[in-house]
Amino acid sequence: MTSPILLTGGTGTLGRLVVPLLRDAGCEVRVLSRRGHEPGDGIEYVAGDLLKGEGVESAVDGAETVLHLAGGPKGDDEATRNLVRAASRAGVRHLVYISVIGADRMPLGYFRTQLAAERAVADSGLPWTTLRAAQFHDLALKVVQAMAKLPVIPVPGGLQFQPVDPREVAARLVELTLGGPAGRVPDLAGPKVYGMAELSRGYLRACGRRRLMMPVRMPGKVGRAYRAGENLSLEGATVGKRTWEDFLAERVS
Ligand SMILES: NC(=O)c1ccc[n+]([C@@H]2O[C@H](COP(=O)([O-])OP(=O)(O)OC[C@H]3O[C@@H](n4cnc5c(N)ncnc54)[C@H](OP(=O)(O)O)[C@@H]3O)[C@@H](O)[C@H]2O)c1
Repeated sequence: MTSPILLTGGTGTLGRLVVPLLRDAGCEVRVLSRRGHEPGDGIEYVAGDLLKGEGVESAVDGAETVLHLAGGPKGDDEATRNLVRAASRAGVRHLVYISVIGADRMPLGYFRTQLAAERAVADSGLPWTTLRAAQFHDLALKVVQAMAKLPVIPVPGGLQFQPVDPREVAARLVELTLGGPAGRVPDLAGPKVYGMAELSRGYLRACGRRRLMMPVRMPGKVGRAYRAGENLSLEGATVGKRTWEDFLAERVS
């Protein structure tokens, strides 16, 4: 019997794209989820909560490789520490983690938490691989959709993003998971850098709508960090192929 790959976050935006790729590669997949799911098509589900530390021992039991994609609004550092502890006890041989570009530079809670989770992985004593990715197209879409509900769209000057297609992130993660432990690998970003106005304009064009835009200034150290491009990876990153426009053409009519 082969050892299953434990996938946390296998029910999320990214994880749902990873599951079929792992199956196509002939892997047995075990997904940890807070909700119950019927097993099927070579996929086993284990109920558990990384943050509460519930079900984690059963999830890692017998898994040599763990691909950790679970993430929530807060507590990803604690959740990762709980996973790492259980994985160490179970003798996991490769722990793969997805983080975010700018984890060590952006003065925002989410990024700090991702950095703490990265450190938990790197200091675990387990062989590991960590990939930092840019914001997924799906997240950028949620933001511009929410903005487009306003009569006037506020556009913070100097904010830039390199949105990346989660399918490309999924493919890279599967490649890394099936390869050996590699430590921190080059970041994965989208093919173009966009300002907020460009992201919104692309969306409005794709759905045939119009909105006024109003430039605003994001204050404080978060604004300064964004304006300095601390959330970007402009040198040495692996660059995806699918653009924001490609994504919109497929997703937004
Ligand atoms: N979205 C982005 O732009 C972006 C960019 C770079 C990196 N990332 C990272 O990529 C990862 C995946 O992002 P995503 O957008 O696919 O997330 P998502 O769609 O919000 O999905 C979150 C996943 O995490 C699981 N999860 C959340 N809390 C959990 C807990 N306490 N215990 C167990 N599972 C839990 C959920 O499973 P259940 O609901 O089934 O329990 C779900 O599968 C995250 O770590 C995120 O930080 C995201």
